[in-house]
Amino acid sequence: MSSFLIAPSILSADFARLGDDVAQVLAAGADVVHFDVMDNHFVPNLTFGPMICQALRDYGIDAPIDVHLMVKPVDSLIPEFAKAGASIITFHPEASDHIDRTLQLIKDNGCKAGLVLNPATPLQVLDFVMDKLDVILLMSVNPGFGGQSFIPSTIDKLKLVKEKIVASGRDIRLEVDGGVKVNNIAEIAAAGADMFVAGSAIFSQNDYKQAIDEMRAQLAT
Ligand code: DX5
Ligand code: ZN
Repeated sequence: MSSFLIAPSILSADFARLGDDVAQVLAAGADVVHFDVMDNHFVPNLTFGPMICQALRDYGIDAPIDVHLMVKPVDSLIPEFAKAGASIITFHPEASDHIDRTLQLIKDNGCKAGLVLNPATPLQVLDFVMDKLDVILLMSVNPGFGGQSFIPSTIDKLKLVKEKIVASGRDIRLEVDGGVKVNNIAEIAAAGADMFVAGSAIFSQNDYKQAIDEMRAQLAT
């Protein structure tokens, strides 16, 4: 895998032909499938659960699946998603009463673990769990919907999180999610991100390869 990972959010895919659409975006050069799970409780929208993750695996999708849980409570879904083929599972600290325990549960189920920080969530929540994190996901929009605009203060927040990662000496991915486009991905990368979720910017295009190539070209400069 390259050092920069492009993770299309299938929230913006064609649900009526999901397997084909995901296969197509991977063939176009995507690295990771970003799988947004919304429960109409923690966030105001409703998407899909472990059955759909399993269906993608059964269909033959073998790329890493990055499950972004926007659900509360969160723990009971973790073994379900691990069984259904999740590779990475991330959750919001506000959705767990015992953050360290939930991270350990993800790892005990054989997946990579991460915390997701909403735009207004302070960074202190990371301080005593850095040793359990494989991924830190910064939301650059408020979670719930695709197609929103990137919140500019995310850039400063990314820089601060990157400093924490470097200070930890650990190999932790810094993922950003929401409003990532060709015209801002270079600035986001310069602030420290190395994993980019993009939903509408990729799936709204007819040519997924061109959309992904344009993003990678920005990362190469
Ligand atoms: C929002 C989701 C995102 C979303 C990104 O709650 O977590 O993954 O689908 O969509 P775009 O790239 O369209 O902002
Ligand atoms: Zn997401």
